[in-house]
Amino acid sequence: MTIANEQDVQGLLRVGAIVAEARDVMGASVRPGVTTGELDAIGRAILDRHGARSAPQLAYGFPGTTCISVNDEVAHGIPSPRRCLLEGDLVNIDVSAELDGYWADTGASFAVGEVNAEAALLLRATRQALEDALAVTSAGQPLRQIGRAVERRARRAGLHVVRDLCGHGVGRHIHEAPNVPNVESAGGRTQLWEGLVMTIEPFLTTRAQTVVEDADGWTLRTPDGSRGAQFEHTMIVTRGYPLIVTPWTAATEAA
Ligand code: CO
Ligand code: CO
Repeated sequence: MTIANEQDVQGLLRVGAIVAEARDVMGASVRPGVTTGELDAIGRAILDRHGARSAPQLAYGFPGTTCISVNDEVAHGIPSPRRCLLEGDLVNIDVSAELDGYWADTGASFAVGEVNAEAALLLRATRQALEDALAVTSAGQPLRQIGRAVERRARRAGLHVVRDLCGHGVGRHIHEAPNVPNVESAGGRTQLWEGLVMTIEPFLTTRAQTVVEDADGWTLRTPDGSRGAQFEHTMIVTRGYPLIVTPWTAATEAA
């Protein structure tokens, strides 16, 4: 969507704060021994308390409130009481929701206990890729600069970009135009415009550049077992730095 008035801004900031809270409280609960089902229940309680509805459930009938993806699962992992997190795992938590007709989407990856150096680099570089992309996001700039920034960060770190996953417009639905590719070649001629509501969500891996869908019909994982990470914000494009709708709260800022 494109922002039409102050009411749109306030509506987005309200739902954005809720998904950011869920993301960070769930993230703070990540530890060896916790199940992805337990993490999902924490997110569900936060959405319920604010009267917000799970976006993937509402839009697609997803069998969970949030998407929780472990190690070589890159996106759309189904939370389960049988999936126990282990020391050294990487876990991605993606929370999106609707409140009063406004939709916001955010995600972050977390280390479970101590992780190896490669996993730590993957977390750092993916988060930095999001920051790099935000820095080139303003009205009038080409959309493809976002993919360029993500690719450059991945290359510098010796990591890879999942080419078939991208950010997207958001606001009045969970997935709207335009696509926001994480590779420059897919950016087309689109220019960013003031008031555009969209996500940026780089997916980096240690090796793979594609994902395949599991037999469960949801989980997207790397074909070669390499691990992935993702960080995602919803934002409003301005003439300067974007207005972040899903800012990190103190818990994640410190990570
Ligand atoms: Co998204
Ligand atoms: Co998301």
